[in-house]
Amino acid sequence: MHFKELMKTRCSIREYHENKVNHTLLEQVINAGRLAPSAANRQPWKFVVIDNDELLDKIKTAYPRDWFYKIPSVIIIYGNHDISWKRSFDNKDHCDIDAAIAIDHMSLMATELGLGTCWVCHFDPAVINKIIPTEEHWQPVAMLTIGYPIEIAAPIKKRKELSEVLSYNGW
Ligand SMILES: Cc1cc2nc3c(=O)[nH]c(=O)nc-3n(C[C@H](O)[C@H](O)[C@H](O)COP(=O)(O)O)c2cc1C
Repeated sequence: MHFKELMKTRCSIREYHENKVNHTLLEQVINAGRLAPSAANRQPWKFVVIDNDELLDKIKTAYPRDWFYKIPSVIIIYGNHDISWKRSFDNKDHCDIDAAIAIDHMSLMATELGLGTCWVCHFDPAVINKIIPTEEHWQPVAMLTIGYPIEIAAPIKKRKELSEVLSYNGW
């Protein structure tokens, strides 16, 4: 798919078939995240795939929504706030920005492969941390559900007009 088409086709998918994505395909998606740019090339990310049903059932309690209870698998994207780049002027941490770029790469790659994804940030990180203990400094930034989408009509993109978000040479 050409990039223009890919951007228009990608949309949040919240209804999936039950079958799981095989690891070869999943690794193509994760690889797209791995290749993303990051501030000072720190790559402060880790991608944890959850497709074991027993574990997945526990993870679902961190975001109790009807649709989320039915997902076949999810990628948890972790960020490391210790190794991420901080801007010297104000110490701004770029960890979540880096993670977001990787996630966007993954969601576009998933679309290219005929898979569906949906970002989830409205989860309880404490629940995730209890289920999956990590090394120090790693925090779950977001989750990306992934699976085979149940047929959807052409996505309707509700977006602000270009004129509302663009200005030249000043605010
Ligand atoms: C940072 C971020 C966090 C999001 N968190 C959630 C979430 O917790 N639950 C959810 O259902 N959708 C979530 N979404 C999906 C957005 O609602 C969705 O991307 C937006 O409505 C635009 O729709 P589209 O993805 O179909 O183009 C999130 C998206 C982003 C980028």
